[in-house]
Amino acid sequence: MTGKRIDGKATAAELRAEVGRIAAFFRAGTGRPVGLATVLVGEDPASEVYIRSKRAACGEATMESVHHALPAETSEADLLALIARLNADPAVDGILVQLPLPGHMDAGRVIDAIDPDKDVDGFHVVNAGRLAVGDPAALVPCTPLGCLHLLKAELGDLSGKHAVVIGRSNIVGKPMAMLLLAESCTVTIAHSRTHDLPALVREADIVVAAVGRPEMVRGEWIKPGATVIDVGINRVAGTEPGKTRLVGDVAFAEAEAQAGAITPVPGGVGPMTIAMLLRNTVVAAHRRAG
Ligand code: GUN
Repeated sequence: MTGKRIDGKATAAELRAEVGRIAAFFRAGTGRPVGLATVLVGEDPASEVYIRSKRAACGEATMESVHHALPAETSEADLLALIARLNADPAVDGILVQLPLPGHMDAGRVIDAIDPDKDVDGFHVVNAGRLAVGDPAALVPCTPLGCLHLLKAELGDLSGKHAVVIGRSNIVGKPMAMLLLAESCTVTIAHSRTHDLPALVREADIVVAAVGRPEMVRGEWIKPGATVIDVGINRVAGTEPGKTRLVGDVAFAEAEAQAGAITPVPGGVGPMTIAMLLRNTVVAAHRRAG
């Protein structure tokens, strides 16, 4: 058996088109575009690429993005002052502070300075709390939201399924577990201290791998027919000298032979993250507009 490849790129394109239609409707109704403010401190090349992709996707969806590029030596107080201005700006519906921040800043303090109702990354403690208690006002982190969308598109009703989430980060693992619990899955969160991870994964109907370790999850761990969502994006040495390639946290070829369905890397979860950022921003705009 070979599992179906879940096409995140196509699903994300459909979602972006839908969000674009809603953003155009918002603009027609309110006389202003949906607005996203992006903030980047320093010149990390990977972060610059992410920000460019996010802003390009905004433009395609007829949303307006305003970028704030701050030098690496910006003080935390100056960044907090910018966030306060963006919180108070009626044209700004969403605020995204790209991570990682330079070492002299406390990311938790910075994120928690963002108005929770403009926190389109869903990283603020208020949004984490809202998600944990099932409050529909939660803005939910984009990557797990994208994973859930793919899972529901593939499987429909998830209730009663055993989901094993590998990874316990605040950005992916924990919110993913909360979302699956809300879908009435039986959820296990595994991490670096978990005993006998292969045996645990063999019990899973759904596997979400978000550990950041290239090809750690092996094909023989996958229960035949299980659905595998690979959040990992790891750059490793390619077969030709000097070339690199992207791999996930799952050994794709092995796992594809066992799985019912599986996301590839690239082209699986990655495109969904940006689509969900746009969706969160449009949702935040509508809520603010009442
Ligand atoms: N850095 C890497 N991924 C993300 C993300 O989804 N949001 C933000 N703000 N920073 C990131």
